[in-house]
Amino acid sequence: MTSTVNLGAPITIAALGKQFPSEQGPVTAVAGLDLEIAAGEFIAVVGASGCGKSTVLRMLAGFESPTSGRLEVGGAPVRGPGPDRGVVFQDYGLFPWLTVQENVAYGPRQTGASRRDAAARAARYIELVGLTRVANRFPQQLSGGMQQRVAIARVLCNEPAVLLMDEPFGALDALTRGSLQRELERIHRETGTTTLFVTHSVEEAVYLADRVVVMSGGISHGTAGHVQAVVPVQLDRPRDVNDAAFTDHRRRISALIEH
Ligand SMILES: Nc1ncnc2c1ncn2[C@@H]1O[C@H](COP(=O)(O)OP(=O)(O)OP(=O)(O)O)[C@@H](O)[C@H]1O
Ligand SMILES: [Mg+2]
Repeated sequence: MTSTVNLGAPITIAALGKQFPSEQGPVTAVAGLDLEIAAGEFIAVVGASGCGKSTVLRMLAGFESPTSGRLEVGGAPVRGPGPDRGVVFQDYGLFPWLTVQENVAYGPRQTGASRRDAAARAARYIELVGLTRVANRFPQQLSGGMQQRVAIARVLCNEPAVLLMDEPFGALDALTRGSLQRELERIHRETGTTTLFVTHSVEEAVYLADRVVVMSGGISHGTAGHVQAVVPVQLDRPRDVNDAAFTDHRRRISALIEH
């Protein structure tokens, strides 16, 4: 695989806050959240349901605006969605009327690439996620795992500096999930894209991340969502989930998550 390298962008999150209106007045979902992410870093975000993980990701994606604080990608303030940030959610969000190839080539076409260039780029990313043989099929002809691979290829084909993933493997069976984790690890190594990955699986977080961010709080806890701890994972890759050091990280992080 050649020429898939794109430099990731650093991310600055400073004193970030988000309030939502409610019938009882505004409620604070996130407050005082600070995080510096280096270019090319892989960050996993874990924390109890409702602590604000998706809200933070949506603000980074530019789908929601912060109520307070600072949010910068590549040194520039986030003002809305942009091609520098690719977003992958749990539901694949593919265009059902387009083939795999057309889904993946869609982004480059939108940003003005010629049909030929877009096709060449799409072919490269389809290969990167191992779907060359099904490039001419439609999404509904593929398994969930394959559709999620298409979603990842489609986002990567825009060559974003930042990849934002919100429980992307949450709907997949364990076997498919494992193989996509290994694939994502390889893709991250090959592209150097700064990645923020929200997951409910501590094992997945420890497997993938350079650092695991543990969030806590949230409206239902009567406090605002914030960073509770940041745990570096300095284990050699590919990681062995049965390794003692791996298990130790997993235990420590699980103990930090409030239930
Ligand atoms: N658009 C919205 N309007 C009002 N409240 C919202 C909105 N989006 C999120 N919230 C509230 O903000 C809090 C954080 O939600 P968020 O979806 O970020 O949590 P999460 O950590 O992603 O949870 P989960 O693990 O269940 O996905 C929740 O209490 C939620 O109800
Ligand atoms: Mg969420």
